Amino acid sequence: MTDTRLTPLAASLPSTIPFVAPERIEAERGTAFAARLGANELSFGPSPKAITAMTDALSGIWKYGVPENEPLRTELATHLNIAAEAVTIGEGIDGLLGILVRLYVGAGDAVVTSDGSYPTFNYHVAGAGGVLHKVPYKDDFEDPKALIAKASEVGAKLVYLSNPNNPMGSVHNAQTVQSMIDAVPEGCLLVLDEAYAEFAPDGTTPQIDTSDKRVIRFRTFSKAYGLAGARIGYGISHPEIISGFDKTRNHFGVNRVAQAGALAALHDHDYLSEILEKVDQSRARIAKIAQNNGLIPLPSATNFVTIDCGRDGDFARALLAALSARGVFVRMPGAAPLDRCIRISVGLPLELDILSECLPLALQDARDHIDKT
Ligand SMILES: Cc1ncc(COP(=O)(O)O)c(C=O)c1O
Repeated sequence: MTDTRLTPLAASLPSTIPFVAPERIEAERGTAFAARLGANELSFGPSPKAITAMTDALSGIWKYGVPENEPLRTELATHLNIAAEAVTIGEGIDGLLGILVRLYVGAGDAVVTSDGSYPTFNYHVAGAGGVLHKVPYKDDFEDPKALIAKASEVGAKLVYLSNPNNPMGSVHNAQTVQSMIDAVPEGCLLVLDEAYAEFAPDGTTPQIDTSDKRVIRFRTFSKAYGLAGARIGYGISHPEIISGFDKTRNHFGVNRVAQAGALAALHDHDYLSEILEKVDQSRARIAKIAQNNGLIPLPSATNFVTIDCGRDGDFARALLAALSARGVFVRMPGAAPLDRCIRISVGLPLELDILSECLPLALQDARDHIDKT
C-alpha cells in the first residue's frame, strides 16, 4: 500500500535501482567477475599521489570536509583559467545534476534530452515532476539541431547533451557544440555533460566562457582521474548560475578524503598523460577484439568502446547475459536502435585477454539462445 505521507509525486514514482551493480550480479552468480568492463570506470586506478593524499587524509576523517570545497575549488579555477565563483563542486556529476534539476525544474516543466542518452539526468527530472521530451539520435550521435528545435517547441527549462556521449562514445566538435550554445532558446539552459572530456580529441570542448548564462558544463574525477568511488565532480558556469547551487546543495556532501584525492589527482599531469595513453591502447585492443569476431566497433572519444552487434536488442541482451555468465561484466544502451550495441569499458590487459577468450564463446551462446526462442 502507498504511504499516504508521501507527496503525490513521490507516490507516483516507482522505487527502482536503475544501475544493477556488478557486485549484486556477482552475489547472485556466487563468483566474482574475471573482467569488470561495464561501468566506465578506470581499472588502471587513480594517481599514486592521489592514493597517498587520500591515505593521509583518512586519519582526519573525524573532521567534516570544507563546505566550500577549498582549496580544490580555487585550484580547479586556476587550472581552468576562470574565477572560483564560476565553479561548484559536488558529489559527482550525478549529484550536481540533481541539484541543478531541483533548482530549475518544477512540476510540469519541460526538459529535453536524447532517447537513450545518460539516464541519471532523467531520474532527477522525474523526481522533480518535470516532463521529459526525448529526441532520437541521428546515426549514433546526439542531434544538437533536433534538441534545440525540441527545446524551442516545448519551451524547455533545460536541454541535456552528453559530449562525448554515453552510451555511444560519439562526439561533436567544439564548433557544433558552440553553435548549439548560441542557439539555446530564451529561458532555457544547456546542460553540457563533459564527463569524458579528457579522453576526447583536441577541439572537442568549446572555449569556456563563464560570462555566458546559456550553458552549464559538468566534469568529473570519476573517469580520467579514476576516482569514481570517491564521488566528486564539478560544474562550470556563470557565477550567478553557480551561486544558485549554494541554495540547496548538501554543503557537507563531499567528504574530505575525496577532496584530498581530487586535488592531488588534478596536479598529477604526468599520470593523466600515462592514463590517456593506456586508454587509447585499450580502446584500440577492444576494437580489434570486436572486429576479430565480426562485430563493428564504433569510433570512441571516451573510456569505452560501443560495439554494434549487427542484430537487434534481444541479441545484444543475450550476448550481454552470455558474457556475464562467462565472467565478463559489460553494459549496453537502454533504448532502440542503440540497444543493438554493447558497451565495453577499457580495462587491464589481463581483462582484455579474458574478453578476447570469452567473446567468441558468448557470441555462440547468444546465437544458440536466440535461435531457440
Ligand atoms: C555522461 C555521464 N555523466 C555523468 C556520469 C557520472 O559521473 P559522476 O561519477 O561524476 O557522477 C557518467 C558515468 O558513467 C556519465 O557517463
